[in-house]
Amino acid sequence: MQYRYSSRVAQLQSSAVRDILKLTQGKDMISFAGGLPAEELFPAEAVRQAASRVLTQGTGALQYGVTEGFMPLREQLCERMAFKQMRVEPHQLVLTTGSQQAIDLLVSVLTEPGDVVVVEKPTYLAGLQVFALRGLKVVSAESDEHGMIPEDVERIIREHKPKLLYAVPTFGNPTGRVWSLERRKKVLALCKHHEIPVIEDDPYGDIKFDDEQLPSLFALEGEAEGGTVFYTSTFSKTVAPALRTGWMMGDSGVVSMATKAKQAMDIHSSALDQRILSQLLKDFDLDAHIAVIAKSYGERMLEMHQLLRRQPALSGVKWEKPRGGMFLWVELPEALDAEALLRAAVKKGVAFVPGSSFYAEQPQRNTARLNYTYNSGERTQLGIERLVEAIGEFTARS
Ligand SMILES: Cc1ncc(COP(=O)(O)O)c(C=O)c1O
Repeated sequence: MQYRYSSRVAQLQSSAVRDILKLTQGKDMISFAGGLPAEELFPAEAVRQAASRVLTQGTGALQYGVTEGFMPLREQLCERMAFKQMRVEPHQLVLTTGSQQAIDLLVSVLTEPGDVVVVEKPTYLAGLQVFALRGLKVVSAESDEHGMIPEDVERIIREHKPKLLYAVPTFGNPTGRVWSLERRKKVLALCKHHEIPVIEDDPYGDIKFDDEQLPSLFALEGEAEGGTVFYTSTFSKTVAPALRTGWMMGDSGVVSMATKAKQAMDIHSSALDQRILSQLLKDFDLDAHIAVIAKSYGERMLEMHQLLRRQPALSGVKWEKPRGGMFLWVELPEALDAEALLRAAVKKGVAFVPGSSFYAEQPQRNTARLNYTYNSGERTQLGIERLVEAIGEFTARS
């Protein structure tokens, strides 16, 4: 049978990069490609104990739940958010299947196909996939190491009348950048003035390597009800991604509309996982655990940073040293196409994501994203050696 796919999914065809990365599953392959947390740091024993407690409390844990999510966990999250100056009530916060679903739900209730969404340049790849699936036109605002450039956001607002702005202002994916306070205030003021809702996606805010704490856009706005900012976050990076638990928060009307959309999508996210997380927050010191992983990831970042710095062959390669998050964003010499380099690198047994995947338009082809959290020690060292070899051979050939 000849299947006729919807025009929305037709754009989602597998990219060349994804096809190459599929080849990187082998044991000897060192992958800096995925955004994977370190498995040896998962709080496996605490999760096992929490799961066991939940399951011995009664069979109710296996029953259907409400679409909004397990109320005790929503209340615990409201408390945790208040420590970061983000004040919300449970009716303004909904649990989702990872923050990925929170992004999709917000897009689905706040936009129509054909609407424009403003993003950073570059931006989160799976965010771009949501926007494509929902039929949005993506316009990228110029961005630098201090964040989105407000003057360019203003131009886009004037020229394209966007319906939404999506950003990862703290330890962005792929760049690891942190928006300055001034940029946060300016972009927020513009969106408020022009009534453009903002999705502030914050999966990495807790993974920080120094004591500096900038307020989220949500905290800066200070009011969820009738507000501009919708904040999303997740337990994927602080506990474990397999629990698929994230959340969104903001104006109760929008959140309740998103809840209706979610009901149609999946009725609710895993109530069992939510109960396990709620139990975990009661019995386990999550903040102490976050401090442990942040410290370890900071060390892994430094390890990769120093390995790269020590390579004379990489003198033409530039990167900003991340202050948090999971990624190092590198700029290769201008003539070097990172997609072509990936093919050579995979043959050597190392993988990364070429930067072009993170651009909605006009990709900067000499960029690449390296994850430093999944590997450590000898594997990181071997991976960097292979990468350097691949760059050497590749530049000699071209
Ligand atoms: C910027 C960003 N947003 C959202 C997500 C989705 O995370 P999850 O659905 O696991 O919560 C990720 C995952 O890597 C991410 O990097």
